[in-house]
Amino acid sequence: MSAAVAELRHVVREFGGATTVRALAGVDLALAPGDFCAIVGASGAGKSTLLNVMGLLDRLTAGEYFVDGVATSGLNDRQRSAVRGSTIGFVFQSFHLLATRSVLDNVLMAFTYGGVPRSERRPRAVEALDRVGLGARLAFSPATLSGGERQRVAIARAVCAGPRLLLADEPTGNLDRSNSESVMELFAELNADGLTIAIITHDDEVAGRAHRRLQLRDGTLHSSAAEAAAPAFQPSSARGPAPSDGTHASLADVNQVTGIRGGTRR
Ligand SMILES: Nc1ncnc2c1ncn2[C@@H]1O[C@H](COP(=O)(O)OP(=O)(O)OP(=O)(O)O)[C@@H](O)[C@H]1O
Ligand SMILES: [Mg+2]
Repeated sequence: MSAAVAELRHVVREFGGATTVRALAGVDLALAPGDFCAIVGASGAGKSTLLNVMGLLDRLTAGEYFVDGVATSGLNDRQRSAVRGSTIGFVFQSFHLLATRSVLDNVLMAFTYGGVPRSERRPRAVEALDRVGLGARLAFSPATLSGGERQRVAIARAVCAGPRLLLADEPTGNLDRSNSESVMELFAELNADGLTIAIITHDDEVAGRAHRRLQLRDGTLHSSAAEAAAPAFQPSSARGPAPSDGTHASLADVNQVTGIRGGTRR
């Protein structure tokens, strides 16, 4: 059995201050290869906190988080950055593009970390932009693009380095219905190619495109009715071919680069 791409066990994240806020109060979640999971919940429920933890952008207060079966709690900042850069792609509500750089340069930033050879970077960035329908806009500034186009640039940046896991925090939150649908269509295609996706959303239609739907409530995750209706965790073999283009860096590769040892799945 292959390891979950991402697995949280009893994850707690508290924020200090005058009063301690327990944003995550013992979250258990496993994303199998090829999973497509929507996470919903009220404002303040801890959705972004969960995504930041899964993206190795934030540390846990307690519990353990595994990426490709490797425990991440023992990793130092450099190792976390290496795992993040080679394994995880991000898409945010507000795009996070640099207006002073071209569309192509924004996508090339995905290669800051990770082991993609220099000579392959530009062709891969161009291919990713072609895939999202923006191959003719390489030299444009993101500032001249529509919201939907900006988000498609962000998606190209998120996937061009061949991540195993795509994390999206309200990716359609600033988009109209038609652009939301285009973005979700892209996510569905990427998922069909084998990419594991977790998406945070307030939008029922967006959540409906995912195969699983989970709700964050009081800092813990609950299956929603939609998940019961559309069971997830099919073995990846039941969903068509796994990614086989050789572009996905494995954690083993990263371990070689960073010297990670002993972080075994318990
Ligand atoms: N850096 C921080 N310091 C202190 N408290 C924080 C911090 N980040 C988040 N919190 C608190 O943790 C809780 C969860 O916040 P989070 O941003 O994860 O919610 P959310 O579900 O993403 O909400 P929204 O739908 O409004 O984006 C909130 O009570 C928030 O105030
Ligand atoms: Mg949020």
